[in-house]
Amino acid sequence: MRFASRSTIRKAVLVAFIAGIGWLLAPAESSSTQVRQDARVEPALKQARQISNELTDKVRGLLLAELEKGGYDGAVRICSEVAQNIAQEFNRDTGRSVRRVSLGYRNTKDIPDAYESRALKRFDRQNREKRLASEYYEVIREQGRDHLRYLKPIVAGKMCLNCHGQSEQIPSHVTAVLKEKYPDDRATGYREGDLRGAVSVKIALPARADR
Ligand code: HEC
Repeated sequence: MRFASRSTIRKAVLVAFIAGIGWLLAPAESSSTQVRQDARVEPALKQARQISNELTDKVRGLLLAELEKGGYDGAVRICSEVAQNIAQEFNRDTGRSVRRVSLGYRNTKDIPDAYESRALKRFDRQNREKRLASEYYEVIREQGRDHLRYLKPIVAGKMCLNCHGQSEQIPSHVTAVLKEKYPDDRATGYREGDLRGAVSVKIALPARADR
């Protein structure tokens, strides 16, 4: 048996070291075995996926239809009222909530909490590095109770720039409406493909002993 040369050993140590760093830097993935094996997660996850798809698809569809008609005022209402109505309906059940959040928010109701804020910063980085996943979730203990926290990133499409783009992309009458309704508007200056925000769902899970 031959002993490995010193340089081979050095190489092996280096490879192991780099692999170790890679593991340390890897984002905490939602699909950890722990979360996957938790039987309480699946039904909550189903609800979270359904409501966030409804929220993004319905708003996008209605916006498109309205913009095609040239109805900017109607469209401004859609991005606010429709989204809020869908959310209100879901939030009627205690122990669960959905809302849209953004670091560059228009409505102050959409200011992210600390958890959401960290997730949005991570999404933004992943989006710029072209490795943004379509969802992120984990089980978090808050106020003595386990919760599913689920976030679905929202990326700005071309159509969104009519109201969230650079100032020259936003029709002047829209700017006027926005100024009046949202004096502290931070939701402009986006480009196509930018992370615009996320749908954030939080669902209280039954206590483990209840299963
Ligand atoms: C016609 C104007 C208009 C268009 C087009 C538009 N939005 Fe909005 N958007 C708004 C308004 C107004 C609000 C504030 C909503 C509120 O008051 O709840 C908003 C809020 C949001 C929010 C919530 C976070 C925040 O800033 O308060 C997200 C996320 C969002 N828009 C994403 C999009 C996406 C994605 C598109 C394209 C698919 C889009 N919007 C297109 C007007 C628009």
